[in-house]
Amino acid sequence: MFALLLRFRRFLIPYRLRLAGALVALVLSVAADLAQPWPLKLVIDSVLGNHPLPASFPGWLREGSADARIASFCLALLAIAALGGLVTYLGTYWAQTTGQRMVFDIREAVHAHLHRLSLAYHHSQRPGDLASRLTSDVDRVQDVVIAVLVNFVTSVLTLLGILAIMLVVNWQFTLVALAFSPALFVAVYRYTNRIKLSSREWRRQEGRVAAALQESLGGIQVVQAYTREDYEFERFRREAAGSLEASIRATILQARFSPIVDFLAAGGTVVVVWVGAHEVLRGDLTLGLLIVFLSYVSALYRPMKQLSKLAYVVSRGTAAAERLEEVMRADAALPERPPRHRPRHVTGSVRFEDVSFTYPARSRPALRNVDLVAEPGQVVALVGRTGAGKSTIASLIPRFYDVSAGAVTIDDIDVRQWHLPALRNAIGLVLQDTWLFQTTVYENIAYGRPDASREEVEHAAREANVDEFAARLPEGYETLLGPRGATLSGGQRQRIAVARAMLRSAPILILDEPTTGLDRDSEQLVLDALRRLMAERTTILISHHDAPVLAADEVLVVDDGRIAQRTTRHADITAAPAARAAS
Ligand SMILES: Nc1ncnc2c1ncn2[C@@H]1O[C@H](COP(=O)(O)OP(=O)(O)OP(=O)(O)O)[C@@H](O)[C@H]1O
Ligand SMILES: [Mg+2]
Repeated sequence: MFALLLRFRRFLIPYRLRLAGALVALVLSVAADLAQPWPLKLVIDSVLGNHPLPASFPGWLREGSADARIASFCLALLAIAALGGLVTYLGTYWAQTTGQRMVFDIREAVHAHLHRLSLAYHHSQRPGDLASRLTSDVDRVQDVVIAVLVNFVTSVLTLLGILAIMLVVNWQFTLVALAFSPALFVAVYRYTNRIKLSSREWRRQEGRVAAALQESLGGIQVVQAYTREDYEFERFRREAAGSLEASIRATILQARFSPIVDFLAAGGTVVVVWVGAHEVLRGDLTLGLLIVFLSYVSALYRPMKQLSKLAYVVSRGTAAAERLEEVMRADAALPERPPRHRPRHVTGSVRFEDVSFTYPARSRPALRNVDLVAEPGQVVALVGRTGAGKSTIASLIPRFYDVSAGAVTIDDIDVRQWHLPALRNAIGLVLQDTWLFQTTVYENIAYGRPDASREEVEHAAREANVDEFAARLPEGYETLLGPRGATLSGGQRQRIAVARAMLRSAPILILDEPTTGLDRDSEQLVLDALRRLMAERTTILISHHDAPVLAADEVLVVDDGRIAQRTTRHADITAAPAARAAS
């Protein structure tokens, strides 16, 4: 439990003052709780009974009238309650808000970390599961912070305080009163581990539910088109049922806890009443002290119960913390080799030197011994069968993945030595399947360069032939798109992607099927725009169509991860054996 706090200490340190304040306030509130039964004891013994007040009390009180003493003790009761209330409020408030701020900080940190992790990591994870880690798991860690502060600290202090006071007042009676507590601790101990395991399983199942939901909703069109709703219902049901089962198991264990604790507590009370009543009859104990003991004994079992509940919160939080740490520890971020190259000016020559690459978790290489040179301003086209490795080649340039062997260089510097943002800022990208965000057309284009002026964005839009359809959208450039741009046609989405890349005006341009989904006329329009764009840039162009490829300085035919054929400008690609690469 403290290990967990220690592991998350960097999120707690900023709030140490607040935490210290919470601790002090909670200690005071425990003191107020402990003081609570004493005025009553004094009333019973020194007003109703005939035990005089101890000498430590001021004379006016000892010799005062019964009324004066009753009034004083009642006032004391009120004062204790008021002070106790105030410090409890402050302690709870400070502890809770610290927890909430910490949630915010952890979320922010994990979110930022997730965005630094490489694509290899993200392709191995389910987004729904990651989402649940950032939401419910973070909450559970927060629960621990609050539970530890509020419940653990107050419970332990209360227990110790009660024990100390009882022992000082009457140690024999205390030992009798506590006869039941070992049994209680055994029960707590036995259940802790089982609850921990079952709650971990529950969290895991919840993650699967979120992931299943995310996947079926993400592909809702495919689901509906193939009328696989029943299958998806069944799949979701299975995951949800798994979660239900796990949660029931965890709940049963947790629910058994309280009755056992309550029963043992009743046993303790019975012992105190039995032994205490006899002692009072014999005159060995004052009635007031019996009342104090009774209230302490019942107060004693409450913190124990709190602690036993704490076991559940902590084990649940520990499981959640492990899931969060798994993400934070994931070190799939791309290593940058110093010195991190960060040039003021990028010329844009791209070179592949004997590059081989195997996707993580695959055994068969996707690329083998690829050599490629694109000088500044040149257009190198990659053509070839589907699955040949064209997109894979393109993805190595912005370091979506790192080569397995060989090297990719930009301006003769290994991309692994580049400052990563500098590298990616030098590259404009039109991916094969464009991702549009659920915002306006304008924002989607401006995503390529957030500091671009309105003129620049609209210029890029005109160049990419976006304005032709944007004008017909209900609110022009301010039209909100559906998720993933689902309210546009494929060709329209592609043109927005081209505009986005154009706006970036980076020295290197990667176009993966930029004219897919366009009709011949729009293709021409986009190609004109692209030609203008490609004029001053190094372009890696992937296309199945002839038209774009015609603009290329060199055409490489990719086949099964190798460069099967190279043809320079205007030569016939298929009938140029002389140009065949030595592969
Ligand atoms: N993220 C990935 N993880 C594992 N393997 C992958 C991944 N992406 C692609 N592959 C594999 O690498 C090979 C090359 O894929 P790539 O996407 O580069 O082909 P492509 O030439 O772009 O095809 P297309 O013309 O269909 O876009 C394929 O066999 C594919 O299955
Ligand atoms: Mg591809």
